[in-house]
Amino acid sequence: MPQDVWNPAQYARFAHERRQPFDDLAALVERVAAPRVVDLGCGTGELTAELHATLGARETLGVERSANMLARSAALARPGLRFVQGDIADFADTAAWDVVFSNAALQWLPEHERLLPRVAAAVAPGGQLAIQVPANFDHPTHVIAAELANDPAFATRFTAPPRTAGVLAPERYAELLDDLGFVRQSVRLQVYGHRLASRDDVVEWVRGTLLTAYESTLPPPLFVEFVERYRERLLPALRDTRPYFYPFKRILLWARRDAA
Ligand SMILES: C[S@@+](CC[C@H](N)C(=O)[O-])C[C@H]1O[C@@H](n2cnc3c(N)ncnc32)[C@H](O)[C@@H]1O
Repeated sequence: MPQDVWNPAQYARFAHERRQPFDDLAALVERVAAPRVVDLGCGTGELTAELHATLGARETLGVERSANMLARSAALARPGLRFVQGDIADFADTAAWDVVFSNAALQWLPEHERLLPRVAAAVAPGGQLAIQVPANFDHPTHVIAAELANDPAFATRFTAPPRTAGVLAPERYAELLDDLGFVRQSVRLQVYGHRLASRDDVVEWVRGTLLTAYESTLPPPLFVEFVERYRERLLPALRDTRPYFYPFKRILLWARRDAA
């Protein structure tokens, strides 16, 4: 079982930059009266609480696997807003939710060809699906991490296979949504430009997200070495500007079912 290496403090370091995609995703959701909302991979729950208020939900459930992340959400729970520890891989509700929402979480799960139909099955008639996943896998930050993971110094030392991204091309999500019977949909690829103080900060950025996939399954001293080697290889591949502009691609998808 991989360790729980999610660190709310590290993740929150770039909270300002990370919230724009959440706002854009929430804006895609059409306002309906008092919906029931589920937020898959809700993290620390702050954004779930905002979503609950913004959508005027009568009930919102945040589902999160990491106890570290979920620890903060307890203080946010109130009537109508609750959080449970659970794995999206086990999420199997059917036609239960008016809004199935997931911001920056499903990329941690494999096989989106199978995952999307399962998550979509939770959308009630007339309900909506809203998902945002990173799609930056061809940027040096991601290419170099994947290359390093294949380096013999690390490749044989993982205690479990690192989670590999199952993210699909935007047009494939669009096809799947159509196959799944959504009558309306919008799928877009958007570049978010993050101005970080310097390229060194990119390492701090990915430590809070991408690198946790390796941290959770490498012995701690080896992960320290992994980050050092990663830094050595990554920095020369990035422009040495101040601030450093980090272009980050994300897929935002939204779809709505016909009312029954
Ligand atoms: C990048 S954070 C995003 C958190 C939150 N949605 C937000 O927008 O701030 C991704 C979250 O997904 C959670 N996660 C990853 N895989 C998961 C799974 N299989 N089941 C439940 N949560 C998962 C992680 O623990 C982490 O808190």
